[in-house]
Amino acid sequence: MNLSDRVNSIEISGIRQFYNKVRKVDGALSLTLGEPDFNVPSAIKRYMSEALDKNITHYTSNEGLLSLREKISSYLDTFKIHYDPEEICVTVGGSEGLSSVFGAIVNPNDKVLIPSPGYPAYSALTKLYGGCELQYKLKDDFSIDIENLKKLIEEEKPKAIVISYPSNPTGATLSKKNCLELYELLKDKEIFIITDEIYSGIVYEDEYNSLAQFQDLRDKIIYVSGFSKLFSMTGFRLGYVCATSKYIKGIIKYHQYNVSCAHSATQYAVAEGFDEALIESKRYVEEFKKRRDYIIERLQSMGIDTYVPGGAFYVFPCIKKYGMSSQEFCEKFLNQYKVAIVPGDAFSSGGEGFVRISYAYSMEQLKYGMDKLEKFINNHNK
Ligand SMILES: Cc1ncc(COP(=O)(O)O)c(C=O)c1O
Repeated sequence: MNLSDRVNSIEISGIRQFYNKVRKVDGALSLTLGEPDFNVPSAIKRYMSEALDKNITHYTSNEGLLSLREKISSYLDTFKIHYDPEEICVTVGGSEGLSSVFGAIVNPNDKVLIPSPGYPAYSALTKLYGGCELQYKLKDDFSIDIENLKKLIEEEKPKAIVISYPSNPTGATLSKKNCLELYELLKDKEIFIITDEIYSGIVYEDEYNSLAQFQDLRDKIIYVSGFSKLFSMTGFRLGYVCATSKYIKGIIKYHQYNVSCAHSATQYAVAEGFDEALIESKRYVEEFKKRRDYIIERLQSMGIDTYVPGGAFYVFPCIKKYGMSSQEFCEKFLNQYKVAIVPGDAFSSGGEGFVRISYAYSMEQLKYGMDKLEKFINNHNK
């Protein structure tokens, strides 16, 4: 007996595969994972405890607590993105949000455009729902090559495109220019635009650009986000999807049969603790910025070519000049210096020649990791 062709067509993510290798190297420092190392904001802990005392432990409505959807709606307003609470579905992390979106959109053999390099779930979910992935390669600064995208859309007639900024793995944000170009390209096309903005709360620039800000794109946009990164609460599993009512209803059907609803006490805790938690999260962002600046300075002083990311908590330096594949580079570095970073090819072929370093780790760990990387590079250059 065989499992379905769809499940056999995908593998566990390259990030996890590499992480599993790291666990076998005794005493290795891992700079591989994409989860903030801060504690959950104290307000959320407090309201979580209150939720249990009040026995808020039953199902909520499928789309989630109204009080939380109202908070999300006002929060998105601060990014000039407008969704009414009725247009929001609270999900089990961004992951289940993405899964419900792909499940609701993708028919067998539908083509989905996904960024390369990009977060591995987009490709896996496309295949799991029987669709075909079409990768669009990002430029050297990880922006979108509009001419290439235009050609792909005209030739391949994809049903959906995934836009993912601030990006995992590159940390790149969407520039105003690129955002306007995308708007001009997509506004008259019949295409779903799935915009994954789970890192929107972790940006180091004043300006925030998103296709979801254009009111006249509302009948194409599906907006996915969540609290895992913003509130350092990956284990609590809380995310959300926003879309105009004709789409959100279908997405909620999918979500209902997958999970019924997101965890009720967590929904309550985030709804009640939101404002305080948001203030606390600003401190996380300041700390991340210091770490980013530190890593960039160290990489540049080692002579490693690197793009300066405007958001998320990853840097994605280029290692092409060292004459190794990204797998070779990371395995050698791990085995010789006991520090793990993720090979860029874990994020599809467009990530080859790069490595992802997560700086969701303490300054001490980052310093240790950078000292080792410096030794590795100096030895290689000898
Ligand atoms: C770009 C991107 N989207 C979605 C997710 C899923 O997040 P969650 O932990 O909320 O499921 C992640 C997690 O790493 C991510 O990097």
